[in-house]
Amino acid sequence: MNHTPDRSRTRRKFLKMLGASPLIAGSGVLAGCLANLLHAAPSEEKQFLGWLENLQQSDDVISSPDQALDVMDFEPAARKAIPPAHFGYLATGVDDDGTVRANRDGYSRIQIRARRLVDVERIDISQSIFGVKWNTPIVLSPIGSQKAFHPDGELAVARAAQSKGHLMLLSTAATSSIEDAIAARGGPVWQQLYPTNVWEVGQAIIKRAEKAGSPAIVLTVDLQEGSNRETLFRSQRLDKRQCSACHSGAYSPFARGKPGTSGSGGFAGFASRKPMFDGLDLSKVTALHAVNMDWDFVKRLRDTVTVKLLIKGIVTREDAQLAVQHGVDGLIVSNHGGRAEETLRPTVESLPEVLEGVGGKVPVIVDGGVRRGTDIFKALALGATAVGIGRPHSWGLGAFGQAGVEAVLEILQRELRTIMRQAGTTSVEKITHDYLVSRPS
Ligand SMILES: Cc1cc2nc3c(=O)[nH]c(=O)nc-3n(C[C@H](O)[C@H](O)[C@H](O)COP(=O)(O)O)c2cc1C
Repeated sequence: MNHTPDRSRTRRKFLKMLGASPLIAGSGVLAGCLANLLHAAPSEEKQFLGWLENLQQSDDVISSPDQALDVMDFEPAARKAIPPAHFGYLATGVDDDGTVRANRDGYSRIQIRARRLVDVERIDISQSIFGVKWNTPIVLSPIGSQKAFHPDGELAVARAAQSKGHLMLLSTAATSSIEDAIAARGGPVWQQLYPTNVWEVGQAIIKRAEKAGSPAIVLTVDLQEGSNRETLFRSQRLDKRQCSACHSGAYSPFARGKPGTSGSGGFAGFASRKPMFDGLDLSKVTALHAVNMDWDFVKRLRDTVTVKLLIKGIVTREDAQLAVQHGVDGLIVSNHGGRAEETLRPTVESLPEVLEGVGGKVPVIVDGGVRRGTDIFKALALGATAVGIGRPHSWGLGAFGQAGVEAVLEILQRELRTIMRQAGTTSVEKITHDYLVSRPS
């Protein structure tokens, strides 16, 4: 069909209008789709508009966890339940949110070679990490400020992790302490580390976590101050609540255009809602993410940490090799769920070179865009020891509290079992590269 210039202009006007609507602006992914669409071919445009029409006509947001067919069903339910600015914090990537979408797309470029006539009556999805056996290879990645999604926050996540047998990582920027998370989990929780720009503060967080019984410290290295989180900034405009009641003009690592801006509350104001900073001298702290970190810092950390030390955010062979040389015990391949830099590179495509870099010496976990049991299967087949999920457990939390997180975990476990059975693999260790093939281009 020919598009007259007039029709094209009208369509673009319509797309721009859609972009301004709260429905789109509230969802980073939708907003990003729309941005791309403004430059897309007519056929892609048509496909997207059809999809949007369906979305508009359906009002099928789930009202209880048991109604969910897949983990994506929890996203609209969470959007409905969470204040717009807080949902924007959860959804946002950076720039056009292209890397958020890329993380998902990466999995669709890998196909599964299913074997037949294998006895798959018994499926074992348990996995060992550092000699500890977990019910599943699905790990709960660290998420900051989870009380922004539900009053029970990280503690609801910890209880769900306990009831479903998952490993959980607690953010330094969590709204619950490591002691409370471990108590709610009824077992060890790994401590994620943002060391700040003051060594003594990072060191105190490590020592506190070790004392609480955390068996691993996970240093996040992929985030610098001031990442361009446009979806977050847009959602803040939609939120009519009085944000200063909670945020009191304090420091924000994502202050728009002003990295690490300190408001009247300064860093201490920000940290007052983050129990991992309780009792620490924060007078010299200006940044949550230590922008001056380098490999000497890792060396110093290695000498300080007495439990396992992992680095989260490695995406290249070179850095993987350096990490191993520096005595790091494990890696998490991550681009912060597309919230770090807009590389458009999916983590599942970074995974093979990181695995090459470590040469089997340490376990490697991957996160970013994992939404299906088949995604987990593919990551494990590539050689990951485990996979992390970030947003999905927060969607479950925001929508339905602990029951929502449990339902998300149950669905992913069920889907993993299903694909293992279908592909003819009875245990996690049997999921190898032989079960994969790249999609012909
Ligand atoms: C709302 C939100 C908060 C996050 N907070 C942290 C954090 O405090 N520390 C950290 O290392 N990663 C953090 N991440 C990144 C996640 O740990 C994880 O790498 C990412 O969410 C995985 O991608 P996914 O959301 O597509 O599953 C956060 C991600 C989101 C969405």
